[in-house]
Amino acid sequence: VLRVIQCSLGNVGTLNLPILLDRRDLELVGVWCHSPEKAGTDVGELMGRDAVGVRVTGDFDEVVALDADCVLYHSRILGRQDDALAQIARLLRSGKNVVVPWISALQWPEYGRVVDARAVKVVEAACRDGASSLLMTGTDPGFFSDMLPAVLTGVCDRVDSLRVQEVLDYSSFDDERLTAPDFFCFGQPLDHDEPNFVDEVTIVQGWGATPALVAAAVGVEVVSVEHFERRAPAVERVPLGRAGTVEPGTIAARWFGIACTTTGPTITWEHVTHVSPASVPAGWPVRRPLADGYAVRIEGSPTIDLRCDVTEHGNPFWGAYLVTATRCTNALHAVAAAAPGIVTILDLPLGSLTRRAG
Ligand SMILES: NC(=O)c1ccc[n+]([C@@H]2O[C@H](COP(=O)([O-])OP(=O)(O)OC[C@H]3O[C@@H](n4cnc5c(N)ncnc54)[C@H](OP(=O)(O)O)[C@@H]3O)[C@@H](O)[C@H]2O)c1
Repeated sequence: VLRVIQCSLGNVGTLNLPILLDRRDLELVGVWCHSPEKAGTDVGELMGRDAVGVRVTGDFDEVVALDADCVLYHSRILGRQDDALAQIARLLRSGKNVVVPWISALQWPEYGRVVDARAVKVVEAACRDGASSLLMTGTDPGFFSDMLPAVLTGVCDRVDSLRVQEVLDYSSFDDERLTAPDFFCFGQPLDHDEPNFVDEVTIVQGWGATPALVAAAVGVEVVSVEHFERRAPAVERVPLGRAGTVEPGTIAARWFGIACTTTGPTITWEHVTHVSPASVPAGWPVRRPLADGYAVRIEGSPTIDLRCDVTEHGNPFWGAYLVTATRCTNALHAVAAAAPGIVTILDLPLGSLTRRAG
């Protein structure tokens, strides 16, 4: 049984907490939260269940001092990466293994050393000091965009191109950041050009490790990386809860990604992210009728088209968040058993990443 600490109870952490409480092969020994109002509450009671004897702490020193094997770091990292890295490094130095669903450089350190050398250096040093391991589980949210396409090439004789895609409707994500000018920019003018979550710098640095990892998995080298981005206007008024309203004519859909030229197949990683299905233009490369989910298309011999609908209680958005949580939790045993350092999915046996009974 692994002793596990949960960092943060946001979208991902809150979905993960009942999973941790119900697993017999994992024991929840601590929960850290940034928000002061959650501190002091028993985590069972926080979930509307009986008390379990583990209280949320707002004191990070307390979780660093805990005797635990692993930490799920589900805290916000965007906008505070240096602070998050410092926290992650403290956990690793204290001998705890860490699984985290963000910081692209850590997903494939070879690429990370080029685009974000500091993140890789900080984590490698902390792993060395603490004889501990870290896994960054990937984007989309790991699995659909890296392991799945790599595994599918195993039945191909020839691969000419490989395309991975996430299509997701964010309209049920009740978060005020949705219309912010530095996030997906929904509701902003079509010619909005401030730095944002899907601009070239952020995409290449923040998401580019995924196609680089796929390239390594299929044994080819990345020659060049090209960012692309298209946006489409709302064709109707879209209410977005706390984020306000997206007015007709302003941004309601974005298609963005990276096309990698390699020494072998072209590898394309792309997202169609929107708040209004009706606003996704007919020319964009999505299945019709528009459906959220993940897709892998391999052109070659044979050509393979795989589409995955992932929902939780019928909602694809919450399905995506849930698999972000489960991907991390199901990897804990593999990461705890791995040699110290940054581990990638290519270091871990396939069978070690499945959901095991327990
Ligand atoms: N790989 C993927 O495809 C994928 C998909 C979804 C999410 N993610 C990543 O998974 C993580 C969790 O996602 P999420 O949607 O749950 O994130 P979120 O809602 O943005 O934030 C999670 C939690 O972080 C804590 N937090 C907020 N500000 C903080 C600060 N300044 N310092 C420390 N903690 C702070 C808050 O929780 P507490 O008050 O409870 O601490 C918040 O609820 C994020 O890093 C996100 O980028 C990855």
